[in-house]
Amino acid sequence: MDANSPTVLVSGANRGVGLALVQEFAGHGWNVLASARSPEAAPELAALARANPRIVPEALDVTSVASMQALAARIRGRPLDLLFNNAAVLGDRHDLGNRRQQLGGLDEALFDRVMKTNVYGPLKLAETLVDNVLASRQKKIVTLSSGLGSLAMMGAMSRFYYYQMSKAALNMGLRALRHDLRPRGITVAILAPGLVKTDLLAESGYTGEALSAAQSAAGLYRLVERLTIDDPGLPINVDGRVIPW
Ligand SMILES: NC(=O)c1ccc[n+]([C@@H]2O[C@H](COP(=O)([O-])OP(=O)(O)OC[C@H]3O[C@@H](n4cnc5c(N)ncnc54)[C@H](OP(=O)(O)O)[C@@H]3O)[C@@H](O)[C@H]2O)c1
Repeated sequence: MDANSPTVLVSGANRGVGLALVQEFAGHGWNVLASARSPEAAPELAALARANPRIVPEALDVTSVASMQALAARIRGRPLDLLFNNAAVLGDRHDLGNRRQQLGGLDEALFDRVMKTNVYGPLKLAETLVDNVLASRQKKIVTLSSGLGSLAMMGAMSRFYYYQMSKAALNMGLRALRHDLRPRGITVAILAPGLVKTDLLAESGYTGEALSAAQSAAGLYRLVERLTIDDPGLPINVDGRVIPW
């Protein structure tokens, strides 16, 4: 870790967009707290950390407040220029004949898991680490939403009720967070990574064109760089276009 460089904390940094964000930010000279549920079982992340001392794996389960508090205790007093809420779950694989978030099979336990991970997790993590963000120069909180959370863009897709609902609810929660943190100089932004070739996209059953995780992370990095406190707080896709609510 280099005290003169900015620091980002990424959730869900062991695979997918999160792992690519670790590489992207580290490549631009950032210190990266790369958090994962089980960093000891994350070989790709471990390899990145071995190759670059600015990358430090951390344990964090965003469904566990105890896990958040333990992380906060480990990094108490350390400025966090950017909290990057990336971790989320889709909840179901399309190909398993699972209808746990579709009409006819609605499942309460799955609802709780998707909502807790995708909605409560990012908000509670922001609350838990707000002092670290306040102590930094850049003071940014970025959370990944999705076009699937857009009511305006809602088309035929109704396969993932909870995931879709979770991202719509997340957008509202982030607007409330933005409202409350703006007076303290913190920029709260809602970004979307685009369609990205990851496990989550494969689980959704989508097989069309998609970005690589590295392409998405590079675009997200550019958006983060440009963010200011005057950011309008609208969901911005990785290509810079606003996603209608
Ligand atoms: N891929 C796309 O096309 C796409 C499109 C729109 C939005 N997004 C959003 O982009 C973000 C990244 O998605 P992705 O495609 O990279 O997904 P992914 O490949 O499924 O990776 C999800 C990451 O989240 C982590 N995670 C899940 N539950 C967690 C928990 N309780 N605590 C900590 N980490 C947890 C996973 O860790 P484990 O390995 O431990 O499960 C994994 O590292 C998500 O917010 C997603 O909604 C993705």
